[in-house]
Amino acid sequence: MDRIFLDLALLTIVTQLFFFFAFFFFSKTNKLNLPAGSKGWPIIGEMWDYIQAGRLGAPQSFFLERMANHSPNVFRTKLLGQDMAVFCGPAGNKFIYTKENKYVASWIPSHLSKKNGSLAIYPSLSSSLRDQPEALKEYIPMMDAMAKDQLEEHWAPHKEVKAFLLAKTYSYTFGCNLLMSVKDPKHIARMYGPFKEMVSGLSSLPIKFPGTPFNRAVKASRIISEEIMAVVKQRRREIMESQETAIRTDILGKLLEGSEDDGMVCKRIVGFLLGSYHTVSIAITFTISHIAQYPDVYESVFQEQMEIARSKAAGEPLNWQDIQKMKYSWCVVCESMRLMPPSKGSFREAITDFTYEGVTIPRGWKTHWTVHTTHKNPKYFPEPEKFDPSRFEGKGPAPYTFVPFGGGPRMCPGREYARLEILSFIHNVVTKFKISKVDPNEKVIYRNSPFPANGLLIRLEPVGN
Ligand code: HEM
Repeated sequence: MDRIFLDLALLTIVTQLFFFFAFFFFSKTNKLNLPAGSKGWPIIGEMWDYIQAGRLGAPQSFFLERMANHSPNVFRTKLLGQDMAVFCGPAGNKFIYTKENKYVASWIPSHLSKKNGSLAIYPSLSSSLRDQPEALKEYIPMMDAMAKDQLEEHWAPHKEVKAFLLAKTYSYTFGCNLLMSVKDPKHIARMYGPFKEMVSGLSSLPIKFPGTPFNRAVKASRIISEEIMAVVKQRRREIMESQETAIRTDILGKLLEGSEDDGMVCKRIVGFLLGSYHTVSIAITFTISHIAQYPDVYESVFQEQMEIARSKAAGEPLNWQDIQKMKYSWCVVCESMRLMPPSKGSFREAITDFTYEGVTIPRGWKTHWTVHTTHKNPKYFPEPEKFDPSRFEGKGPAPYTFVPFGGGPRMCPGREYARLEILSFIHNVVTKFKISKVDPNEKVIYRNSPFPANGLLIRLEPVGN
């Protein structure tokens, strides 16, 4: 009897404490002048509308409609189960980029960041790539050689190819080579299955149950981590045994010079592989798609690249000066990334209450910056659906309106690597093949990023025929 009495008393105290803290929390939040917007449905929030906008081929409409209805500066929503403030337009982008660690800090959905039973793949800050611009120049001949090899092996024997599929193979093989000098085709192929499985888990529902894509992805991420850990350990041994600098020239070698343990180095390599795989292959695919679609664009890219090719001796690889001459081709890549952004943007967490444009963002809320508030906004890009590379000539778009790589201290550390990789590939494609689309009306599907519904089937004719 005493025991029941004690339990009841304890329950009453716990309940009262709960209501006290709930009242305290809600009254505090209610007093704040929160951004206008909607929390949507219980639990799922506005996730359904967000996914639906992507399904209809216009992910930007979710954001542009709310900017028109609530505020062009910042609105509230609920996505990924989180209260979220979406920062809009160039001013919103700039604010988030420049307030890192003052008001906001990086935030990654928990199923992608927790260690146990999840895809623990994202390292925090990736300084190792950020301080590499000079070193990257030295990789250009290797990038050129890899593009040539890939085209010779996977494109040249065919009359038609699925460009998206091959751009992914290229980007992955390229990553294995440049990041950790894994060149053996058998080794690369062995890791590709689990790697693809792990990638598909990133956009699946985080349900960890036998047979679900997420569960398979978690298992695959363990296999990949083990494979890459073996490479890291092997390299560590080589560095200890010999003092040769040659084994430090790739990104793994540079990482191992730092003070991080092997586990963190391994995570960073996986993070870089993932960071580059989809983004670069999407940028390459849609650049090829636009070149093949618009004859005038094709002609200008072709002339620019042929002039570079003609200026070189037989067998002489591309170099830094050649890449600098690819100005028009880079405008075409940028306009492709404006219309088909490889990454939609990213999230942060408010680390303190702060005010922006007269509203308060409470500590703990998530914030989102996204390309979708500017890239197809007619205020910044007139006739936003029109493919027009000349937007990037001269001064180019207004600051913080074209943001495929983000901005500020967390701006993509791989952007220069991506520029060199994409341009080397495009150079080799257009100087080798005349390309045309088999289905000019192929649909584009959006999951996290856009991709061609049928893989972008391209017809190839050798240049000169
Ligand atoms: C067209 C290609 C690419 C695009 C559009 C792209 C875009 C982005 C974006 C938008 C972010 C998030 C920035 C933010 O949080 O504000 C990011 C982060 C990142 N990217 Fe890229 N990226 C590309 C290529 C690459 C490549 C080639 C690599 C590696 C070699 C890479 C590695 C990373 C890493 C490690 C991060 C996380 C940085 C951090 O947390 O501080 N990316 N990228």
